[in-house]
Amino acid sequence: MKAIILKQVGGIENLTLAELPTPSIQANEVLVQVKAIGINPVDNFVRQNQFGVDNFLKPAPGEDTYVLGWDISGTVIETGSAVNTFKKGDEVFGMVNFPGHGKAYAQYVAAPASHLALKPANVSHEEAAAATLAALTAWQALVTYAKVQRGDKVLIHAAAGGVGHYAVQIAKHFGAYVIGTASLANRGFVQELGADEFIDYSAEKFEDRVKDADVVLDSIYGDHVLRSLEAVKKGGRLITLLAFIEGNIAQKVQEKEVFAHRLGVSSNGQDMQQIAQLMQDRHLRSYISETYPFTELPKAHQQVATGKTRGKIVVTV
Ligand SMILES: NC(=O)c1ccc[n+]([C@@H]2O[C@H](COP(=O)([O-])OP(=O)(O)OC[C@H]3O[C@@H](n4cnc5c(N)ncnc54)[C@H](OP(=O)(O)O)[C@@H]3O)[C@@H](O)[C@H]2O)c1
Repeated sequence: MKAIILKQVGGIENLTLAELPTPSIQANEVLVQVKAIGINPVDNFVRQNQFGVDNFLKPAPGEDTYVLGWDISGTVIETGSAVNTFKKGDEVFGMVNFPGHGKAYAQYVAAPASHLALKPANVSHEEAAAATLAALTAWQALVTYAKVQRGDKVLIHAAAGGVGHYAVQIAKHFGAYVIGTASLANRGFVQELGADEFIDYSAEKFEDRVKDADVVLDSIYGDHVLRSLEAVKKGGRLITLLAFIEGNIAQKVQEKEVFAHRLGVSSNGQDMQQIAQLMQDRHLRSYISETYPFTELPKAHQQVATGKTRGKIVVTV
């Protein structure tokens, strides 16, 4: 089968088309013929950093062929002996083995059945492949940890990005009042997602406008999370995707009696099923700003690396 391997940690020129054996499956796995792949900032991070390879790809001892990627949508062509949730011909999507060696940049992927959900018939493979790592992150942040409820005021940073655009829709679905931050060019997009208020982060300090959020989802580097702690109300909830709750962040969290959690998204088929249901009912949609053919996957990395992606970037196989 065709796969894109990472020859060595570094630039996009290290992502190379290769011929690899089609994977064999374990009893708990299915073999998926991949139709579309979602690309995320972590793909870039792992490509460029040995630390990323060690911590997110986690290759098995002696394993020296790295195949990046975790987000797939495709068709089941074989099922392991212990799998009774899917059958040959089912269309499925999910985030495979994250953190771990997902090996998604390939024509065929061996995936634990417990990481997948049935793809709704009214959702394309591209839309489904997009709604995996990023949608799971939004779901686990807002639903699993922040336990978002009707009437909550929810501040979502990077509301126009992969995670953010799902987070706005999920928070609205749960009945929250949503404030999204992005640059002015994304105002209309964020409002169309359902946000009640928009803050252009380059023109205004969000913490000057928001001081009483029940929930803040922070996904920006640097001291941004300290500013988010200004925006969350006493006793509120803060979920971070980058900053760890330590040092002066932990001190401020304690002072404000905030529930704070640094999320590390993880593969979860039950969460995928919730996402699939929302997508089937059209309460959750993927916005795909660009789609690349498999051979141009390195260009997809380049686009995601800009940090300016609107919605998601997808590769078709
Ligand atoms: N811990 C975890 O499990 C986990 C999971 C998923 C993602 N992450 C991390 O979370 C971050 C976001 O992921 P993603 O997939 O959503 O990335 P993404 O799709 O690349 O995000 C791009 C978006 O970020 C927005 N943005 C950039 N700087 C901003 C700022 N200062 N304020 C508000 N918006 C800003 C951009 O909007 P404008 O163009 O309008 O500036 C753009 O739409 C990444 O660093 C990723 O690695 C962590």
